[in-house]
Amino acid sequence: MRKWFFLTFWLLASYLRAIPPDFVYMTWEDDPMTTATIMWGAKEPCKEAVLYKNEKGEPLVADSQFLSEGFFLHALTIKGLQPGTAYRLQVAGEPTYYTFKTMPKKLAEVQFVVGGDAYKHLDIYREMSLQIKNQDPQFVVIGGDLAYTFKNSGTNKEGKLERWKTFFTTWYQATANDGALIPLIAALGNHDVKKTKDKDVIKAEHFYLFFRGNSYKKLDFGDYLTLLILDSGHHCSIQGAQTTWLKNALSSSEKTPYKFAIYHVAAYPSVYSFGGATPSKIRSEWVPLFEKYRVQLAFEHHNHAYKRTKMIKNGKVSSEGVIYLGDGSWGVSARSPNKNLWYIEKSAEKNAVFLITLDQDKGRVRALDSKGEVFDDLTFSR
Ligand SMILES: [Fe+2]
Repeated sequence: MRKWFFLTFWLLASYLRAIPPDFVYMTWEDDPMTTATIMWGAKEPCKEAVLYKNEKGEPLVADSQFLSEGFFLHALTIKGLQPGTAYRLQVAGEPTYYTFKTMPKKLAEVQFVVGGDAYKHLDIYREMSLQIKNQDPQFVVIGGDLAYTFKNSGTNKEGKLERWKTFFTTWYQATANDGALIPLIAALGNHDVKKTKDKDVIKAEHFYLFFRGNSYKKLDFGDYLTLLILDSGHHCSIQGAQTTWLKNALSSSEKTPYKFAIYHVAAYPSVYSFGGATPSKIRSEWVPLFEKYRVQLAFEHHNHAYKRTKMIKNGKVSSEGVIYLGDGSWGVSARSPNKNLWYIEKSAEKNAVFLITLDQDKGRVRALDSKGEVFDDLTFSR
């Protein structure tokens, strides 16, 4: 009884001083079936949250960090959740309920979106984000160049932290107006970091505030899906420790039926040079591992066009090969792809993201443009 009185009093007190957050988003730093990380940005520190597993609310307290005058970032990591379960959450003492869902333990129907090079131009970024919401994905992976905070002329006017705020506020307004949070997973891109004069020192201060942890990681979804989020040399070298880690990660997921890699710079580019240093390095270091461990799809970005390659193995077209999808045109001006490339099956000067659906027998990838129209459609076996 006393507990309920305390909770009611605590909620009432929270509401009275509620400051609506500027944005709320969800990500996974750990197991997508049993954990959730909820982040929010607000003008003042407001660390309170209440998690509803059923009707009973459990008070939680987030970490809060001062980022600039009138801007605090909050992080709440929730563990011990049930797989395939919907939860309700209140944050920052607000009366609004947010909802989120953990991933199922067994493969039923899984649906998610992959895209990259997101917020360069605000209108395209927003339009595509609305289309993503319409697809009702269980989560979204961004393959680098999220907010274009480094080496982008537009940044100088707006300020780097302001661009990150716009990135998240736009995502929040486009996708969470019904309170349902779509988890975001991010890879690192060249515009998310800055190499200082001493090339070993990296400046990616904001990326790691919003997406904490390593720049390369593996996410296992039960026994049915493994995502390999890789760093195409922006913070960590492609070769050496990361490639050794990739080999071990793939080896430990050998029996997983669906395995996809997601990273920024393309091994099989549609616009940039095939012979470029980074594409060549990815082809010599990672591609043999993708082929050996039967990674079906590798999602690549950075080129700002649409592409789907043929199935490629040992540098040749092969029915046993990997398909490379890209090429990073979520919220940028689309470029004209190079038409004379032996490995390209389909390409276009188009804004696009991929909608991936998986079931027990097969996977399907549909390319969506900024109007939500499907303009490429591919089925592959598990
Ligand atoms: Fe890029």
